[in-house]
Amino acid sequence: MSSSSRILDPVFRSKIMSAAEAAALIPPGANVGMSGFTGAGYPKAVPLALAQRIEAAHGRGEPFRIGVWTGASTAPELDGALAKVDGLEMRLPYQSDPTCRKQINAGTMEYLDIHLSHVAQFVWFGFLGQLDVAVVEVAAILEDGRLVPTNSVGNNKTWLDQADKVILEVNSWANLDLEGMHDIYYGTRLPPYRMPVPLLAPGDRIGEPYYRCDPSKVVAVVETDAPDRNTAFTAPDETSRRIAGHILEFFSHEIRKGRLPAGLLPLQSGVGNVANAVMAGLEDGPFDNLAAYTEVLQDGMLQLVRSGKMTLASATAVSLSPEAAVTFNRDAAALKKNVVLRPQEISNHPEVIRRLGIIAMNGMIEADIYGNVNSTHINGSSIMNGIGGSGDFARNAYLSIFMTPSTAKGGSISCIVPMVCHVDHTEHDVQVIVTEQGLADLRGLSPKQRAKVVIENCAHPDYRPALSEYFRLALDRSPGRHTPHLLDEAFRFLPEWKARAAGGR
Ligand code: COA
Repeated sequence: MSSSSRILDPVFRSKIMSAAEAAALIPPGANVGMSGFTGAGYPKAVPLALAQRIEAAHGRGEPFRIGVWTGASTAPELDGALAKVDGLEMRLPYQSDPTCRKQINAGTMEYLDIHLSHVAQFVWFGFLGQLDVAVVEVAAILEDGRLVPTNSVGNNKTWLDQADKVILEVNSWANLDLEGMHDIYYGTRLPPYRMPVPLLAPGDRIGEPYYRCDPSKVVAVVETDAPDRNTAFTAPDETSRRIAGHILEFFSHEIRKGRLPAGLLPLQSGVGNVANAVMAGLEDGPFDNLAAYTEVLQDGMLQLVRSGKMTLASATAVSLSPEAAVTFNRDAAALKKNVVLRPQEISNHPEVIRRLGIIAMNGMIEADIYGNVNSTHINGSSIMNGIGGSGDFARNAYLSIFMTPSTAKGGSISCIVPMVCHVDHTEHDVQVIVTEQGLADLRGLSPKQRAKVVIENCAHPDYRPALSEYFRLALDRSPGRHTPHLLDEAFRFLPEWKARAAGGR
């Protein structure tokens, strides 16, 4: 089916134009809200055309940069293309693009890394300034102008509502059977008139399957037929399998203790190798009737849905391998019984996360011996990706688990350190730390008790003696202190103590 036959409303049909014509409607300096979340549902044509326009303007010596707001990370055709032509003045809220990362860390692009649940409301509050243009991908435009979403929802509802001008991309690659999978909640209010979000179970539908959009704001409709950028599924390596093994063993332990039901509680899982390994472990594990209330639906989780192990998965986007994306698209009609895609202000809503009792599992760069976690910065100053939704879930989850290999860069860096050089999740939001070495259950432990368990259970044996010595010296020099530290040594730890560890101490 061509895109045109998906544009049923005559007003929207009258706005059909090329991507280049649509991109010409975006002025320099504009704040542009784009669809897209982890490479799903991003506009495929307008950002590329805009990048060409920016490059041409730069060629003529004219300044042309824009602010780009999205759901989360997108794709080379969006973040990559605009960054390569030096077109991004400000980027928010989460990115993982190598060119963006380089420019942010070189100081040539501004980056606002905020909790994903905050983005929409910050726009409604007016905290981020005016949103000039929305560029949103949809699967179809119905006769009455309602819009059928594609594979991510993210902040699209807010972009369509708040932007002065709207550009729609209608992508005929997206299966029309997606209609009905989404749940777009229009009940949000500004304080002090807020009401409870009436979502009591992961599968509840509290909104409608479509976006609303004022036709008078639509300045362009662009037809596309292009797949999402899907990243290849990496089979879990041995380290990931060991981390997953510790987590699954912990779940069984918690069930025996009566602190988790047999079907666990709704799962949230970050992206990546370890998350996939946990999902693969769940496939073979003893837990049934699983549910997910999470940000992204990955291959491993989709497999749990298909096998019947997971009865319901709620997310704001899919993030699939090319093979899984094809079958997800093909089977959308059947999958929408078990899969719901929502706006990220609801998928990551603190109230809902607290109510449902989520088990949150997220990756990290490093943790310190007291349980503070750094998810975003290398050496304290250089951004890796961003905080994403990890803070939304960590602060409000029933159980907040952070995981990492115990070392990075071939063992030359310990991911367990005396003091993290950047804090995203404080000791108060972190209940469990897991590496391939083991699991530290920090619940109910004081800082000094936590330090012993983290060093003993999670640190790599090569770094354990050095960390223990740091802790012992800190205790010696400040006896009785609540959280003993050697502030002059905490960050000089690595080179100095690695050498000692290598010396066998
Ligand atoms: N010091 C220096 N570099 C480190 C490091 C450390 N302590 N720990 C990891 N790294 C490097 C790795 O070497 C790797 O570098 P490379 O890309 O050059 O190979 C990179 O960081 C990523 O590490 P990796 O082990 O591949 O982990 P990952 O893909 O699981 O990602 C995070 C880990 C923390 C970067 C990722 O989980 C993230 O961005 N988290 C924040 C957002 C989030 O949690 N989202 C989900 C919420 S819903």
